[in-house]
Amino acid sequence: MTLQANSAPQNLHSALDIVLDTAYQGVDKAAWKNLFASARQSKLEQFIQDLFAGKHINNSEDRPALHSALRNLTKTPVLINGLDVMPAVSGVWHRIEALCNKWVGVTDVIHIGIGGSDFGPRLAIEALAHVPGIESRGMRMHFLANIDTAELARILARAHPHSTRVIIVSKSFTTLETTMNAKAVLAWLHESGCTKGQIAHALYAVTANIPAAKEFGVEEENIFPFWDWVGGRYSVWSAVGLPIALQYGFETFKQFLAGAEAMDLHFKNAPLEENLPVIMALTLLYQQEKHDIKAYAAIPYADALDWFPKWLQQLDMESNGKSVDRDGKPVKHSSPVVFGSAGSNAQHSYFQLFHQGTEIIPIDFIAVREPMSDRPEALAHHRILLSNCLAQAQALANGKTASNPNDVYPGKRPSNLLLLPKLNAFYLGALLSLYENRTATLGALWNINSFDQPGVEYGKVLAKPIEKALASHQNDIAASADIDAVTAARINLLNS
Ligand code: F6P
Repeated sequence: MTLQANSAPQNLHSALDIVLDTAYQGVDKAAWKNLFASARQSKLEQFIQDLFAGKHINNSEDRPALHSALRNLTKTPVLINGLDVMPAVSGVWHRIEALCNKWVGVTDVIHIGIGGSDFGPRLAIEALAHVPGIESRGMRMHFLANIDTAELARILARAHPHSTRVIIVSKSFTTLETTMNAKAVLAWLHESGCTKGQIAHALYAVTANIPAAKEFGVEEENIFPFWDWVGGRYSVWSAVGLPIALQYGFETFKQFLAGAEAMDLHFKNAPLEENLPVIMALTLLYQQEKHDIKAYAAIPYADALDWFPKWLQQLDMESNGKSVDRDGKPVKHSSPVVFGSAGSNAQHSYFQLFHQGTEIIPIDFIAVREPMSDRPEALAHHRILLSNCLAQAQALANGKTASNPNDVYPGKRPSNLLLLPKLNAFYLGALLSLYENRTATLGALWNINSFDQPGVEYGKVLAKPIEKALASHQNDIAASADIDAVTAARINLLNS
């Protein structure tokens, strides 16, 4: 039996003109019934309502996960401890709009942030750059994340200090990479002859820790707040997404929010059987149960979405890469590894393994109906891009027999097709919201808290004594409580 579809309507689902085709998942009617029944048994519907109602579903940190409020353009009241947060949220929208109108003559923006304070805006700036007809202010948007000075040096070599604006983006405002990079950029402005007043004028912050930003030297009127009920990896909808508004205009930013809001409303209101984020989550659970898959891939057949898999990696793996459930009990399953990159490039890299490797890797093929450029070749190229996308899914599902074992394609390799009508700010917002809600659904079904990330802390703590040992330049560091023998030897190697 193959996974070949009979294109039965039950495989096709749509919301906001986005079509999800699950035909190559090989899930039959009875299996779908069981999947929805077990989702109901896990109280998924209640979880979705609790998520939007601001219940403290981030139980370890005892707070809600209300990133949906940041894209609630209709301003339906969202209560936290009885207080509507929408006036504060829309206050930030007004400030973003005012800033867009204020920035004239700015040539360069250096956005300093890492992880969730980086991926979302970086993805959006890249993805929207070639939308036919999009208006762009043409500023050079530089994203500075890594503590490695290569990125810093590259940016500073290109930026014009006297017409540069700097935005420090950090929910906690304690992230070492971000604060050190910010200090380096300020030093560069100073060395380049900018006065104290000019530097203060150029410096902005986006943070949930306003005292720390002030302490760092950012003027209060240049600080855009967001709140502890927004997880870092869910924060692009806040002022973290400022670059989108600054580069493409506030209306485009609003369109981005509108797409996300529309997908939220679909997620919140559609029955499970028609609910795109839920169906996508269930296809993954099905393959995990059936094949014990360890990885899945997201392959956007759109160069503009090349950053999407990187954004998704943090979303999925930081949210659901956990071994214990909400109650501290071991889980049977959690997030598989997720990876990907733009097709068709990816075909010329790791698709060999997809077709003939021993691992079964489910794939989300993401395609866009309309080409992403108005070049005369666009339609012809786009047809080839789409035919490659469809062909890969078909080859993976059906396989191919051959007398030479080397030429056999085993087939039965599952995939989804997610088809966007076009790629603009609205559909980009909808796509990210779809995946955010899918991640939350998976967490709910695994009974994992998708909104904390305790696993990222330990390495940060251990780095401190190691950094101190490296700074000592000694090559006779002995193992200690903080530094084991292997690491002590490595420090000594670096110090010698
Ligand atoms: O170390 C992981 C992390 O805390 C992510 O969750 C977060 O997106 C990133 O670091 C950056 O954090 P911040 O926005 O507080 O600087």
